[in-house]
Amino acid sequence: MQIVLVLHNLLRWGVLIFGIWTLLNAISGVTGKRKYSAGDNRSNLLFMIFCDIQLLLGLILYFGNSWFDRLKDLGNNMKDPYNRFFTMEHMSMMILAWILVHVGRASVKRANTDAAKHKRMLIFFGLAIILILVSIPWPFKEVAKPYLRWFN
Ligand code: HEM
Repeated sequence: MQIVLVLHNLLRWGVLIFGIWTLLNAISGVTGKRKYSAGDNRSNLLFMIFCDIQLLLGLILYFGNSWFDRLKDLGNNMKDPYNRFFTMEHMSMMILAWILVHVGRASVKRANTDAAKHKRMLIFFGLAIILILVSIPWPFKEVAKPYLRWFN
């Protein structure tokens, strides 16, 4: 499970890099009224791929590190911020972000004009990035995990 945890920790930087790149593209697309380019498509495709990998690794951690089992004693676990964060909050917010990314990409593909594509990119991926940013266990939060993790 250590290797999955290390990968889940490190790949969050991939999610953030491609997510912020997508967001910057969307902002410049909306404000600059430019064409929807191959670069726009590439940035949000990579963002989606990294989110897919994170979901897979997250599910392995969720079931493999007994977070799922803690749902059985929900009352007691909800009283503890650490258990509540990983059994409920982190998982549900990240899955919501993942859904937004997938629905967003399908919606961008379906849009008929370049302006509509950029606008949808901004809304869906912008919301997803906000959810991801607030649901990461940053070292300065109550439930804190390191910025980088390696094998020990
Ligand atoms: C974009 C999506 C996600 C990001 C950026 C993300 C990020 C993180 C980070 C930074 C950690 C701390 C790792 C460490 O201790 O070094 C973590 C832990 C964890 N994540 Fe995620 N995560 C994402 C999605 C998910 C999803 C969808 C699930 C569950 C279905 C999940 C389940 C977990 C669990 C269970 C842990 C705690 C692992 C443990 O210590 O046992 N994550 N996540």
